Amino acid sequence: MSRLIELKGITKGYDGETVLNGIDLYIRDKEFVTLLGPSGCGKTTTLRLIGGFESPDEGTILFDGQDITDLPPHKRQVNTIFQRYALFPHLNVYENIAFALRMKRVPVEGEDGEAEGKVRTRKLTREEIDERVQRMLALVSLKGFEKRNVTSLSGGQQQRVAIARSLINEPRVLLLDEPLAALDLKLRKDMQKELKDIQKATNITFIYVTHDQEEALSMSDTVVVMQNGIIQQIGTPTDIYNEPKNAFVADFIGESNIVDGFMPCDYTVKLNGLTFPCVDGGFAPGEPVDVVIRPEDIDIVTPDKSRLRGTITACTFKGVHYEYIVDVSGFKWMIQSTDFVETGSVIGLSIDPDAFHIMHKSEFSGMFGDYSTFSDEMDELSNPIPEDGEDEEDGDGE
Ligand SMILES: Nc1ncnc2c1ncn2[C@@H]1O[C@H](COP(=O)(O)OP(=O)(O)O)[C@@H](O)[C@H]1O
Ligand SMILES: [Mg+2]
Repeated sequence: MSRLIELKGITKGYDGETVLNGIDLYIRDKEFVTLLGPSGCGKTTTLRLIGGFESPDEGTILFDGQDITDLPPHKRQVNTIFQRYALFPHLNVYENIAFALRMKRVPVEGEDGEAEGKVRTRKLTREEIDERVQRMLALVSLKGFEKRNVTSLSGGQQQRVAIARSLINEPRVLLLDEPLAALDLKLRKDMQKELKDIQKATNITFIYVTHDQEEALSMSDTVVVMQNGIIQQIGTPTDIYNEPKNAFVADFIGESNIVDGFMPCDYTVKLNGLTFPCVDGGFAPGEPVDVVIRPEDIDIVTPDKSRLRGTITACTFKGVHYEYIVDVSGFKWMIQSTDFVETGSVIGLSIDPDAFHIMHKSEFSGMFGDYSTFSDEMDELSNPIPEDGEDEEDGDGE
């Protein structure tokens, strides 16, 4: 797959505040790329730069190898579905989707006006428009809804109209800024799958923005993790999950215990005063490191079976598994297990060598990975789901 879009050395600030700080990124043709990061990290700004709604302070944007940094939005082969998409309330489903085609003019074929530098254009015929609208209706599973008033549709159906409307002009790239944020969980899951299917069926490059890591992992070919206006990591969903580059990525992508340690030599890690075999190497002898251990990769064993021991301080039933908070020498770990153990029990923690993921120390070291203050309530507060309904608060606030 060739590089369709390239961002080179992009910086952008507002009122002296740096929002993007040296973004280098390329996006391949026909790829589903997700910009993932917490609120305020610069995702929407990056998208707006690609769409041409903002210009960078420094850096260039290439499209198919051409510099488009100063090209206005309507001249880019890019369409956008904003967080707050507005359908035309006075038009029915069919007309909402057909809207852009009714405006469109195409060259008149079979005339040699081109030779004189003048290309004659015409509007699309009723049949041409209908053929494309029908194709879009099928694509977003809205056949039979042509005559419906858009205001009578559910949130999910309105979302589909918005998607059809933005794809009808066959853009090379579709930019989507948290398009599902206003939908409830079940519908969001359905639409995630549908969007992915639509992307595959149309072969259009999707650049998707979300702060929801599960959404990013389940939909994308490539995930770009951002924080503080900087790209922290680019990779496939499995890379990002299994090989996080630093403590920020490890913490942001799923649950992680992140423990201080050091590497006496390759394939050996020391933490909590204990030495464990691991599968990572390439660190300086004695290098201090951050060690990630995912909660699902720890087995609960009897205390005599492991030198690493702890006391269970909390247990939550999660349906498929129990989630335990375990005090290991004052550091709180999270363990997910299908075994039930009473709170207050002393347990042994058994960890396979390949479950230790070793990372270099970074500016994020020591900030994440201890579950002392963990509660579901806190988690929900830092990850609010907007009320179901089309109007959440303005623009970019998640
Ligand atoms: N037009 C603007 N004027 C001033 N500040 C802005 C503007 N747009 C975005 N910002 C600021 O830039 C930062 C990044 O915003 P944004 O790209 O919207 O982040 P995200 O989409 O990741 O939540 C935020 O601190 C935001 O307040
Ligand atoms: Mg945003």
